[in-house]
Amino acid sequence: MERESQADIAEYLPPASSMSSRSFAERLLAWWDEHGRKSFPWQRDPTPYRVWVAEVMLQQTQAATVVPYYERFMARFSSIEVLAAAPLDEVLHLWSGLGYYARARNLHSAAQVVVGEHGGAFPSSLEAIRKLPGIGRSTAAAIVAQAFGQRAAILDGNVKRVLARHHRVGGPISSSATLKALWRHAERHTPVVRVADYTQAVMDLGATICRRSRPACAICPLRGSCRGLAAGDATEFPQRAARRARRVEKRRFFLLTDAGGATFLRQQPSTGIWGGLWVPPQDAVEQTTANFLAAHDVHPQLVESIRVGQTIQHGFSHYQLVVEPVFIRLNARPGAVGEEGGVWVRRDHQLGVPALVAKLLVAVVDMEFAE
Ligand code: ADE
Repeated sequence: MERESQADIAEYLPPASSMSSRSFAERLLAWWDEHGRKSFPWQRDPTPYRVWVAEVMLQQTQAATVVPYYERFMARFSSIEVLAAAPLDEVLHLWSGLGYYARARNLHSAAQVVVGEHGGAFPSSLEAIRKLPGIGRSTAAAIVAQAFGQRAAILDGNVKRVLARHHRVGGPISSSATLKALWRHAERHTPVVRVADYTQAVMDLGATICRRSRPACAICPLRGSCRGLAAGDATEFPQRAARRARRVEKRRFFLLTDAGGATFLRQQPSTGIWGGLWVPPQDAVEQTTANFLAAHDVHPQLVESIRVGQTIQHGFSHYQLVVEPVFIRLNARPGAVGEEGGVWVRRDHQLGVPALVAKLLVAVVDMEFAE
């Protein structure tokens, strides 16, 4: 039988064993009461604002990584009004290293929408929340469930894995038929009571028991009804999308540093992977350093030293970036570079920079001491 059609009828089949007389949600909640994660900062005082920020940070980042970023963010932007009034640069600065910076830009503009259009009160309906920038169906559901106790089904990556295995839902994970089947299971299992705990519980199960590899099926509270476990092929679900080889892009980053140890950065346009972030001037590796200097009117008399640093690799979702840093020490700032509308910064700047650039700014200082 085709996997997809098996998935479609799964909910009509009898349970895999008699252990599952209690519902999916009941067993999950009993497990969570004993073993679940309950001390994340966003679980303390789960106001809509605090839950929203957490869920956006958790969209593409593991909980353990998010915690320190979340604490710093909340210490600086204590309310939605404070966030809405802050310069975007400061928001990006506190996001530096978390990646997927569109999340920070959307968070900032959504805060302005909430203040401007909802009088500062975070909307409480699923539909209104979904209209805010950067919030999809699952994130909106996680917010209403945890902050307002409203029944709403979530389907993030962890939950997709749990449900695909439990019901043996085949088919490519991003196909609309597969997603439709998974949403149907998600809706059906979401309880009316304790929906906030259930939301956390199903994510915790995915993160700690129903892990991507080597799931701990022997201690899973859902093992009695898991079709994947019964068939012995749980880890074959969900079906992974075919991996295309990521293209490699090689760039040369030019770190122009003046006599005072300040390095020149320019702001990226507001869209794209590093939208709004500050980065050094750069070029394709086919371009030579001499060409770069000539194109920017940096006269040879200004140059004290040129050093090529070790390459740094950074994986984005669609390509691999290979950066060759070129550290250029100058005895004075070239006029033409300044006209390009950038800034000269030291390591202790307050701008939003990608983590890779933060590392290079540290390397600039280390080079100075090395000389
Ligand atoms: N991933 C998305 N939301 C989460 C949450 N509330 N806790 C842990 N991991 C998550």
